[in-house]
Amino acid sequence: MAPSTPLLLFFLFASLVSLSYPKPSNHSLSFSLTSIPLSSHSKNSLFSSSLASQFKQNPNTKTTSYNYRSSFKYSMALIVSLPIGTPPQTQQMVLDTGSQLSWIQCKVPPKTPPTAFDPLLSSSFSVLPCNHSLCKPRVPDYTLPTSCDQNRLCHYSYFYADGTYAEGNLVREKFTFSSSQTTPPLILGCATDSSDTQGILGMNLGRLSFSSLAKISKFSYCVPPRRSQSGSSPTGSFYLGPNPSSAGFKYVNLMTYRQSQRMPNLDPLAYTLPMLGIRINGKKLNISTSAFRADPSGAGQTLIDSGTWFTFLVDEAYSKVKEEIVKLAGPKLKKGYVYGGSLDMCFDGDAMVIGRMIGNMAFEFENGVEIVVEREKMLADVGGGVQCLGIGRSDLLGVASNIIGNFHQQDLWVEFDLVGRRVGFGRTDCSRSV
Ligand SMILES: *[C@@H]1O[C@H](CO)[C@@H](O)[C@H](O)[C@H]1NC(C)=O
Ligand SMILES: *[C@@H]1O[C@H](CO)[C@@H](O)[C@H](O)[C@H]1NC(C)=O
Ligand SMILES: *[C@@H]1O[C@H](CO)[C@@H](O)[C@H](O)[C@H]1NC(C)=O
Repeated sequence: MAPSTPLLLFFLFASLVSLSYPKPSNHSLSFSLTSIPLSSHSKNSLFSSSLASQFKQNPNTKTTSYNYRSSFKYSMALIVSLPIGTPPQTQQMVLDTGSQLSWIQCKVPPKTPPTAFDPLLSSSFSVLPCNHSLCKPRVPDYTLPTSCDQNRLCHYSYFYADGTYAEGNLVREKFTFSSSQTTPPLILGCATDSSDTQGILGMNLGRLSFSSLAKISKFSYCVPPRRSQSGSSPTGSFYLGPNPSSAGFKYVNLMTYRQSQRMPNLDPLAYTLPMLGIRINGKKLNISTSAFRADPSGAGQTLIDSGTWFTFLVDEAYSKVKEEIVKLAGPKLKKGYVYGGSLDMCFDGDAMVIGRMIGNMAFEFENGVEIVVEREKMLADVGGGVQCLGIGRSDLLGVASNIIGNFHQQDLWVEFDLVGRRVGFGRTDCSRSV
């Protein structure tokens, strides 16, 4: 759950002097974004992790399950390369709107991965001392798993559901976009030990996310289509600041939750959308809107996430989708087959043929906003000639939320307007929009 500690915020923001930082309102920075499968070290590779919550919990704190948030740490991820430090060293990071703390791989002997960030080469690098408010014992619902280590450094660790982990120290470092555009030193994890090669760019609504710390007014990304077996990683784009195409976007307001509300299954820092329904092949499925809304426990929240590959639906919605798929393409379904423990609507054969049987799909939101998934893009090639509908059961993943994953955000501008508290969508060809 989220911090609501005014004192913490005071210390945090007191340390951020951003006078030299250009006002983000009319500046935008553009980066390329690639969509790549991350390599896996784990057996249960498809469904690992919750970046926000799967840390080892302090045994003294009585907290409820934090299982609400998962991301496909080892599967299809959106990667951006950002210049960090002075002079800048380019670091690859997974763009994750579902997590808070950003971290990079650090070069700390004896472990010195060649692509890791070398603190010794940066004049703007500093470590966060142990007496920083972030390293003090805190209220039970605080989500940053930090402690003071034996070297009096602020240590953090994330443990993922699949047994992998990342740990290191909290540091301050600048993002140096150009000689005139640098952020103030921002709080960042400097991983000294991790099972991954990329870092994470945490972009959720939390006060320690990159977007919050850097005072980004809005950001947007465009996920390029994945062409199977093409060999090369397709390139899309990522903007910090206004998007030049935003005049054509359609916006839906974010749902907000008071952080004082104790809802164990809710992620109050996620981007929660007011989803109304799902259409398949022109037919509105009979799913009550309440299936897409947080109930008193927080279950049913519908969030949009860049860090999750596929889309997941709670049982009430999932069963209606499956019912419809069975009606449309039942005979082609691969009986008894479940991909990655959660996708059970899979087919042998030609994605185009099956896609034509199913038709288009749409996720409907308030204000008439919708994400339309064209029939050609309904199925994901999971290898071995198998095609799966990119929708799984939340329950099998161990989450209580509906999650719209990056598979259903292809060829779409998705803009997160943090000032306006809304999310915008604009249909485009992401491989051409760089
Ligand atoms: C930002 O906006 C101001 C006023 O609207 C304008 O004078 C300035 O040139 C703009 N800066 C950039 C970099 O676009
Ligand atoms: C933390 O400790 C350092 C050195 O021990 C000291 O200079 C600094 O004032 C302390 N900061 C806080 C916030 O207590
Ligand atoms: C819609 O679903 C509800 C509950 O699942 C059911 O009671 C109702 O009859 C359904 N309506 C239609 C038109 O199928």
